[in-house]
Amino acid sequence: MAELKILDLDVNISDTKKIIKGLNLSVKGGELHVLMGPNGSGKSTLANAIFGNPKYIVKAGKIELDGENLLSLKVDERARKGLFLAFQEPVEVPGVNVMNFLRIAFGQLKPGDPQITDFRQTVVAYLKRFGLAEHFLKRALNEGFSGGEKKRFELLQAILFSPKIAVLDELDSGLDMDSVKTMAEAVREQLAKGTGILMITHSEKMFEYLKPDFIHIMVDGKIVRSGGSEIASELHSKGYAGLGG
Ligand SMILES: Nc1ncnc2c1ncn2[C@@H]1O[C@H](COP(=O)(O)OP(=O)(O)O)[C@@H](O)[C@H]1O
Ligand SMILES: [Mg+2]
Repeated sequence: MAELKILDLDVNISDTKKIIKGLNLSVKGGELHVLMGPNGSGKSTLANAIFGNPKYIVKAGKIELDGENLLSLKVDERARKGLFLAFQEPVEVPGVNVMNFLRIAFGQLKPGDPQITDFRQTVVAYLKRFGLAEHFLKRALNEGFSGGEKKRFELLQAILFSPKIAVLDELDSGLDMDSVKTMAEAVREQLAKGTGILMITHSEKMFEYLKPDFIHIMVDGKIVRSGGSEIASELHSKGYAGLGG
């Protein structure tokens, strides 16, 4: 079974600015981990460091997938190993149309996958499921997409590419109630297929739908509490400050 392991991780965003400070976390295939914390605590920095965004400098510690060190690998190499990151703020890529992007990415991430033969049909079915129109396929990647469309398209990729480990960074923020439900159902199915998911969220609705196996509270670059669903109710009554922040 897949396992993403993070050991004593320190991440900087400049030579002197430390964001992540000695973080430990393990996510196994089929597990749902929810990561919460106040704005600016370093959640997206962690997501970017896992994915290998070169702006985020790993100063110490390890990031391993199935025992293999990922730190020397570039973003595309990590993706091919089975990591997926749904961005909090997906970037607009003018000149690359959605269908071409998906076809090329899928071909690289899932070489030999039989779905490539009926790829358009596969993609259209997913578009429908996530409430996106077919003409989406002709548009430039993320360009002019509404906030909700960007999020739903990130989710579509997370399901289509069926990674070993997916990090979903505030994928549900700004979505209407029905979309959050659709998203929760898709996440649950993906877990059953064996993907391990690290979900960064502020949404209590997501908790109700998904009942995560583990909840982690991050404050100032460190995980200050980890546990099960009891953490959610504690958080409700005490706030982040009461949980060690
Ligand atoms: N690319 C960046 N350049 C400069 N500062 C950054 C960058 N990314 C994150 N930071 C800073 O790191 C801190 C943590 O940010 P972030 O990881 O986005 O927090 P969260 O996702 O928990 O809200 C913040 O102080 C933020 O301003
Ligand atoms: Mg963030």
